[in-house]
Amino acid sequence: MLALRRGPRLAQALHTRRGAFSRPLSTQVPRYSAKTAVYTTAFVLSTGLFVVYYLDARSAIHQYVLTPVLRYTLDAETGHKFAVKVLKSGLGPRDPCFDDTRLKSELWGQEISNPVGIAAGFDKDGEAIDGLFNLGFSWVEIGSVTPKPQPGNPRPRVFHLPEDSGLINRYGFPSQGHPSVLARLRARIPLFQKEHENAALRPASILAVNLGKNKDSPADSIEDFVTGVRTFGPFSDVLVVNVSSPNTPGLRQVQMLHKYIRGLIDIRRGLQNRELLEKLLTGVTQARDELPVSELTSRRPKLVLKLSPDLDEAQLADIAEVIKESAIDGVIVSNTTIQRPTHLTAVNKSEVGGLSGAPIKPYSLKALRTLRSHLPASIPLIGSGGIFTGADALEYAKAGASFVQVYTGFGYNGVGTCRRIKDQLVVELEKEGTTWAQVVKKAVDELSLKPVPKPEPGEVTIDQLISEAQQLQGLLDKLEEKMDRGGA
Ligand SMILES: Cc1cc2nc3c(=O)[nH]c(=O)nc-3n(C[C@H](O)[C@H](O)[C@H](O)COP(=O)(O)O)c2cc1C
Repeated sequence: MLALRRGPRLAQALHTRRGAFSRPLSTQVPRYSAKTAVYTTAFVLSTGLFVVYYLDARSAIHQYVLTPVLRYTLDAETGHKFAVKVLKSGLGPRDPCFDDTRLKSELWGQEISNPVGIAAGFDKDGEAIDGLFNLGFSWVEIGSVTPKPQPGNPRPRVFHLPEDSGLINRYGFPSQGHPSVLARLRARIPLFQKEHENAALRPASILAVNLGKNKDSPADSIEDFVTGVRTFGPFSDVLVVNVSSPNTPGLRQVQMLHKYIRGLIDIRRGLQNRELLEKLLTGVTQARDELPVSELTSRRPKLVLKLSPDLDEAQLADIAEVIKESAIDGVIVSNTTIQRPTHLTAVNKSEVGGLSGAPIKPYSLKALRTLRSHLPASIPLIGSGGIFTGADALEYAKAGASFVQVYTGFGYNGVGTCRRIKDQLVVELEKEGTTWAQVVKKAVDELSLKPVPKPEPGEVTIDQLISEAQQLQGLLDKLEEKMDRGGA
């Protein structure tokens, strides 16, 4: 009625529209649904393809887009935290491939599917353990964890050196402390239905906890490490005793400097001082041996020492002596360095802290070779420092490392780093017609300290000859004395 009063044109328009609406539904649906179906299918397909692409850790987007964007838009520490959050969320990418049999490695008689691990310091509080295993690492090392929570040094405390493929950090052990990290390790266990024989809860893998000291603990106390062994022993495959962080806070450096001046301790090397090292290694191995066998792993954890690359040959030889006399199972060589090679060009090169990445590879390799020559083949070395490619990893194996760890390379090349290193390694090993295990065995056999052969019955050893010579020298001295007196 209203329409009629407004005039015939409006009424006609309304009639036309009503007509449209009153058309049977079956005649409209095909027109709209065909279009919608095309759009929906395209959307679902492209989203699905993108998800598949994103979830593959090898995808170029991770190496060439997401990782550089993170590096250029966020400061180093925020970028690090973001990466941990993504891997913690379960939405991180994955290594989609099985490990080639050429990569099979062995540590302490245990088979490991590949020789590449993520080094300590990336997942300091054990938040992203499974996200990291999913990226293909066979060894995930969390920590350093300190007994009490502590904030670490003030920010900024991590610096990119992109021109040098390096990083400098002076984190100073920020840690949520033993109780939080332990709760996380416990909470992980029920998520895995199957029975597992290791704390990694995955076949042929290792979960390691790296133990650190609280800033306010006495410099020469071993208590924090012993507590760490007792706390994490039942929940880990390997415990790492980290005596090599260069980020000792100012107060500790002053205390240590005083001791150094008194000839007792070295400012940098702290616990690497022989006497303290003996005390530490005895303390931690005793604490480990006193642990009941773990319900999770049916064994006790292996104990591994982590060293600095800044030790000279004499110090490494000294440390090797202490290690040989202890029940330590292996050594990681190395942590970051306080040295600054002259070829560094990045603006951040003079920041205080530990340098990692490509520039430290020569230092770490040198320390590893030296230590290899002072330790018997029965003590495996784990190489860490400047590993970015399969060729780098192989260089470490040829220097006598049984296994390698990556950190800075992972920061620069992103989530596909582990997979790429493994693929490159397979190519190199195929070229040389060998396997990782064979390369390691050859190098370790050739470069390790050779056992001193036991003398055959009746055979004279060098020690015996020296002692006889010393006795003879004593007799000669006495004779000379008598002759002098007689002549006087
Ligand atoms: C940012 C950062 C934090 C680190 N934090 C720790 C740590 O808490 N404990 C430790 O033992 N090593 C720590 N490291 C040393 C690494 O585990 C590794 O041994 C070292 O960086 C050498 O390897 P890369 O050249 O592959 O980084 C840290 C390294 C970086 C770069």
